[in-house]
Amino acid sequence: MLNNNYKNLLVDKDKTIREVMRTIDLNGLSTAFLVDKENKLFAIITDGDIRSAILHGEKLDTPAMKIANKTPVTINEKENSKEGIKNFLRDSKVSEKIPKNSSLKVPVLDDDRKVIDLLFIYSGEKIPTITKKHNKKENIKKVLVVGGAGYLGSCVCKKLLERGYSVKVLDNLMFGDHGIKKVYGNENFEFLNGDVRNISTIVDAIKDVQAVIDLAAIVGDPACAHNPKKTIEINNFSTKVLADICKYSQINRFIFASTCSVYGASTDERLLNEDSELNPVSLYADMKLATEKILMDISDENFSPTIFRMPTLFGASDRMRFDLVINRLTAQAANKENITVFGGDQWRPFIHVEDAAEFYVKALELPIETIGNKILNVGSSVMNYKIIEIANIIKKITSANIDINQAAIDKRNYKVDFSLSERLFGIKPRFDIEKGVKQMLNIDKKVIADYKSELYNNVDMQKKESPE
Ligand SMILES: NC(=O)c1ccc[n+]([C@@H]2O[C@H](COP(=O)([O-])OP(=O)(O)OC[C@H]3O[C@@H](n4cnc5c(N)ncnc54)[C@H](O)[C@@H]3O)[C@@H](O)[C@H]2O)c1
Repeated sequence: MLNNNYKNLLVDKDKTIREVMRTIDLNGLSTAFLVDKENKLFAIITDGDIRSAILHGEKLDTPAMKIANKTPVTINEKENSKEGIKNFLRDSKVSEKIPKNSSLKVPVLDDDRKVIDLLFIYSGEKIPTITKKHNKKENIKKVLVVGGAGYLGSCVCKKLLERGYSVKVLDNLMFGDHGIKKVYGNENFEFLNGDVRNISTIVDAIKDVQAVIDLAAIVGDPACAHNPKKTIEINNFSTKVLADICKYSQINRFIFASTCSVYGASTDERLLNEDSELNPVSLYADMKLATEKILMDISDENFSPTIFRMPTLFGASDRMRFDLVINRLTAQAANKENITVFGGDQWRPFIHVEDAAEFYVKALELPIETIGNKILNVGSSVMNYKIIEIANIIKKITSANIDINQAAIDKRNYKVDFSLSERLFGIKPRFDIEKGVKQMLNIDKKVIADYKSELYNNVDMQKKESPE
């Protein structure tokens, strides 16, 4: 039976590197076959060939043929039989060419060198194995997670490793390395201790990856307000430089963590969708919005950023945060303190940190044309709550008393519509509030007892790092 997959790999041999890269991004197989009008094969090119050529000074408008492999591994249709393939696989040159963590794509040619089929070769125990179907989309083998040692980042990294990706983390360990300690020994994990404000660090970090998840930031309104200069540098300028470098290097899958805080102080009673009015009320939200705009402005037919506007997260992570409302109230209750609510009538969407991480992993698996160049509210429409409702859920589980403080009310108020991401991703949250609270009540007792430490509170860490 012929394998029609090969058609997605065919591209006109006279196309430029930029045009061929688009084909590769769309087919998700990290390879393109350069052919003439009759599908006669001239060369094969991979995303790795393209990225390495670019970093050696090649321009995107260069004809792809210039850097493509003109003597690739191919198989003639007459060899495409059980016995023929056995002999073909015994050829040591074939084994040498199989990439790590991925397959060698071998075109089947007729006598006129026209591509008529496609085989995938994987390295096997003794001799390589051959298949007509590929295991999964293979364009993303290694992912860079910037800010990967953080509260969300550590969950994203764990999930990526579980799903078979290699992961590189760039983080300056503002809160230490609790978040990634458990994966240090994993052979598919690499850690780069560095600052995203340093350009040559970024260039080193992106060298061998196919996708970038950008989570590094000063996070939260008070933490950003404490050090505006640092916030602008990290949350805005650095992301711009990082995205520019990815675009230049043709790392076209770029996922950026924004926030539903961009909706700010909304007076709209309806659920807010991606086109609703934006009303940021903090430097944190202003910078997220400014960065969203920069990313959308530099996107083009290849560079396809995905922007996730995330709800407030909750739940257990290897790097804990107790400055998030559900986590803080749970820690207060766990320590037999009254739980303190500021105002309480404000609406806010929530999502468990592990459910949020699932969106990042799934974004790498969905076709780039589905999720690229999009701003998406990611979460679940059933997870909008008033803060007082959250307090009551925690009270029910722990019997804690609630103190309501009307003096220091958080101005943010928004109910968010997540139907677009629900449709595109098909992710149903595994954790509701109750399950997440119960999960946190069972984490390491020393951690929850120490919930006021700067290790778990972003603004306090900023104050410690740069006292006024
Ligand atoms: N937690 C939430 O409720 C929430 C909600 C919406 C959006 N977000 C966004 O998600 C992302 C992750 O948030 P989080 O809750 O995991 O926060 P976090 O503070 O736990 O993680 C941020 C990570 O970035 C790293 N980092 C900061 N500055 C850096 C620099 N200059 N160079 C390298 N690394 C640096 C920190 O060391 C930390 O590991 C952020 O962009 C945040 O704005 C979070």
